[in-house]
Amino acid sequence: MNARRPVNTESVLNATTWHREARKTPAARPPVHTVHDLRAMPQRVLTRYIRDRDAWIKNLVFPWAAGNEAVSMIAQVVDENQYGPPGAKEIVAITAPFTAGKSTLVRGWANGYYRELIGAAIQSAAQPTWRPRPGVEAVHAPVVWIDLGSASKQRTLTMQILDYFGYPISGRIPDLIVRFSHVVANHQVRLIIVDDIHLLKVDQRDSRQVLDHLKHINTVLGQQGGSLVFVGKKDNKDGLVFNDPQLAGRLQLNELHTFAADTPSQVAEWQTFLHGAEHMLLPYLPAASPGLLASTHAPRIWRRTQGFIGDTAKLLKRATIQAALDGSWTITAGHLDAQRLSFRATTREQALRGRRAPAPVEHNVEVSA
Ligand SMILES: Nc1ncnc2c1ncn2[C@@H]1O[C@H](COP(=O)(O)OP(=O)(O)OP(=O)(O)O)[C@@H](O)[C@H]1O
Ligand SMILES: [Mg+2]
Repeated sequence: MNARRPVNTESVLNATTWHREARKTPAARPPVHTVHDLRAMPQRVLTRYIRDRDAWIKNLVFPWAAGNEAVSMIAQVVDENQYGPPGAKEIVAITAPFTAGKSTLVRGWANGYYRELIGAAIQSAAQPTWRPRPGVEAVHAPVVWIDLGSASKQRTLTMQILDYFGYPISGRIPDLIVRFSHVVANHQVRLIIVDDIHLLKVDQRDSRQVLDHLKHINTVLGQQGGSLVFVGKKDNKDGLVFNDPQLAGRLQLNELHTFAADTPSQVAEWQTFLHGAEHMLLPYLPAASPGLLASTHAPRIWRRTQGFIGDTAKLLKRATIQAALDGSWTITAGHLDAQRLSFRATTREQALRGRRAPAPVEHNVEVSA
């Protein structure tokens, strides 16, 4: 559409960069070799193999059962909203503590949903287009991802959505809101995801307006079968969207947690997660035996990371990379202890020192990768 400003920023997330990201092909899965073959490899070949293996490992996203359930719930609500009668719809909120992996989870799902909606158009580097009216060609951008800035207000939220599509963001608020309705129709918007929703606080000066605007966004989207998804930390005390009775009545909440290790069932859940990671990594650690992560190292990995997915993924990836560099081709306790983790994990680990680590249980859980 002519009203659009060119969207040229490489790093800022907008409809153009979203399409580019959705088209990215992940690093190819490297071949699997035995320890014997690896040790017999000419240095040059081995160096290249390790480099390709590193690239693949760094890009891995480990599956987690609770995360899978959360995205299934989004898919279900989005589907119900699409086929239900027009009007304001159910809103999904995926919440978790800081750095628990919520944005990665929802973004991965939204990426797949985008690909599903645009179909064969993913083959083209150019964004797909369609004709909303005779003589008018518009970009088809069914998924919108908004990272809330700390200064989010009614105006900036509307602006962020308009900016995502490269529309002018100057003008009076009522005009911007009208422009937003056109955006939804013209670009066939099906899903708006607002990340870091906890930044909207009840004590903000304009919180009433922000709430009204969120409801308006949901109504406009709902009229066209679209859905609104919130992602963020649940804040019962002053989180704006969790304290409004009208929004709460529409909110489908999925609260995710970090892995705990206090009860046998929590330990089993933790081991199931590690088993999933092991399923991906073990072929590339040919000197390791099954159960290395899910049983042998499970307590140590928890002590180091306290069950936070981000720290755990970093720890497992770095240890796997180091295991190739030093030629051991398995992960040792030394590898796990040597990796630098977040300030949060390190501080907490020091506080845990001296306490008995949770014991692993006999591991016989099946996990689908
Ligand atoms: N399933 C996963 N597999 C591998 N790495 C993951 C996974 N989930 C998250 N990560 C990594 O963990 C880190 C934190 O994840 P993410 O940013 O999604 O968490 P968040 O809960 O959204 O954090 P914040 O509270 O800061 O918004 C990121 O570096 C991400 O790449
Ligand atoms: Mg996040």
